[in-house]
Amino acid sequence: MPRFDNQTVLVTGGTGGQGSNHVRAFHVEGANVVIGDIDTERGAALADELGTRAHFTRLDVTDESSWSAAVLAAESAFGALNVLVNNAGVQNPPATIDNTERATWSRILDINLTGTFLGIKVAAPALRRAAGGVIVNIASTMGLGGTANYAPYVASKWAVRGLTRTAALELGRDHIRVNTIHPGVISTPFIHEPAAGATAAIADFYSPEPFAIPRLGEPADVSRLLLFLTSSDASFITGSEYVIDGGLLLGPALQTETA
Ligand SMILES: NC(=O)c1ccc[n+]([C@@H]2O[C@H](COP(=O)([O-])OP(=O)(O)OC[C@H]3O[C@@H](n4cnc5c(N)ncnc54)[C@H](O)[C@@H]3O)[C@@H](O)[C@H]2O)c1
Repeated sequence: MPRFDNQTVLVTGGTGGQGSNHVRAFHVEGANVVIGDIDTERGAALADELGTRAHFTRLDVTDESSWSAAVLAAESAFGALNVLVNNAGVQNPPATIDNTERATWSRILDINLTGTFLGIKVAAPALRRAAGGVIVNIASTMGLGGTANYAPYVASKWAVRGLTRTAALELGRDHIRVNTIHPGVISTPFIHEPAAGATAAIADFYSPEPFAIPRLGEPADVSRLLLFLTSSDASFITGSEYVIDGGLLLGPALQTETA
């Protein structure tokens, strides 16, 4: 039997490179999928393509009323909400801290951090109504170290970790698990297109060549981990952080001559 039969999953940023793959992966596994995104054209097209068990709702994660409408849409369409994936996220244009505009700082924190906070806040009562559930917050390897020129993004993803641990403590007794996934560099528009306000894309200056697994990550790599973490196989896992980066955080794999 598919792992997510009779489960309803809301994925934010659900039309993006990773989000759309997560939506498809849950759908294949039998879930009802609610695609939440600000991109209405792509969202409607994906819901149309998937047909039954798929619903698009315009969700701006920075707007609490938009969250209320999305959770209501999930419950109205499918009867309950069981899984929330806080996946929507944006990168800042590269700049040192002293050259970062206050408005850029606020925009990145608003989407990546406040968007995740609002998601947990508004979805938690719905997950309780469903007698329990799972929340996965998509952070980043940049939430586990420092990265020059990406302070707003780095800070937002570090903060998501604290939010996740706190939510796991608050919601555990309600049978709601909360974890983070920390992807390395994944092949999506996020790295192949310049961030808003930037001129170069991350893929223009990043190469996976020095690392243990010398390739870019694929959205499917992350989807497989996400499906595990949201499945009953992970029923004892909460407040935890899952790195999926092909060894990026290990640092370069030295290629020395050996006898
Ligand atoms: N691609 C990578 O290398 C990488 C690495 C680590 C972490 N991440 C994280 O993974 C997540 C998904 O990124 P991706 O690679 O799919 O990027 P992407 O740019 O392909 O998708 C991001 C999606 O978020 C949506 N979005 C932006 N602002 C929104 C808002 N206010 N409300 C709702 N939706 C909004 C966009 O419309 C888009 O569909 C993000 O949280 C990102 O920070 C990405």
